[in-house]
Amino acid sequence: MTPIKKPSSKDKSFTTKESPIGIFDSGIGGLTVVKSVMNALPNEHIIYFGDTARVPYGIKSTDTIRQYALQITDFLLRKNVKILLIACNSVAAAAQKEIKTRCGNIPVLDVIEAGAQAAVAQSSHTGQIGVIGTLATIGSGAYDQALKKLNYEARVYSRACPLLVPLAEEGWIDNLVAIETLKTYLAEFSNIKLDSLILGCTHYPLFKESIRKVLGDDLTIIDSADSIAVMAREHLDSQNRRNDVSKGKFDCYVSDKPQRFKNLAERFLGHKLNRVKIVTLDG
Ligand code: DGL
Repeated sequence: MTPIKKPSSKDKSFTTKESPIGIFDSGIGGLTVVKSVMNALPNEHIIYFGDTARVPYGIKSTDTIRQYALQITDFLLRKNVKILLIACNSVAAAAQKEIKTRCGNIPVLDVIEAGAQAAVAQSSHTGQIGVIGTLATIGSGAYDQALKKLNYEARVYSRACPLLVPLAEEGWIDNLVAIETLKTYLAEFSNIKLDSLILGCTHYPLFKESIRKVLGDDLTIIDSADSIAVMAREHLDSQNRRNDVSKGKFDCYVSDKPQRFKNLAERFLGHKLNRVKIVTLDG
């Protein structure tokens, strides 16, 4: 295992169009973002980090999530990423500001901003928006703030669903246990006429079909993975930083159990991966 050193001021980034896009999450959830970015930006080199040794983040304190997130940010900055995508709502809720400061002139996009923008753009009937996420994300009120900033009139109904992350990490996304868990968590939404439901955790798109089974087809489900991929493409285009030369490439790092991650990731992304490498984050 390679220990990771803190970047020094000498590491000042010089990035080009061919430099990679950095994406990270606590575990496999961020692969939903990877999949969308691969579709939206097929020529890019993506470097992904999943903190499999310390998942789940959503039940941890803000200070702990912040500390982990900055360690990962440092790792990806050392890989010379040209843009960083926070593919974890719990991190975005706890540490978005600190990550932006650490990144300096490297742009940082996050799934909360992306999800809120998509929800407001698509909610035109009742103005009632549901949000589901981890305890950390829902407890932070980050979605309420982001949505109210974009539309002061929006009415936001939030629900933490802490059991969904371990179920997703286990691959239990559509069996009886998953359906019954969703029914229990989502029961309170059945009496509210929601315009849209934001999947405020990047693990949750894995349950999209099961959520439809429970809540029906009328509801617009907002998957911030697609929204952040579009935001990333627009941002790179506006700066003329899109990689239009190379063939897409994907490098994957985790902090524990690389083989297990590789198996799950290949199943989810639908193609074979190169070796998933293991790294130790030591602050
Ligand atoms: N996928 C993450 C999120 O978007 C974190 C889940 C967790 O580690 O609890 O919040």
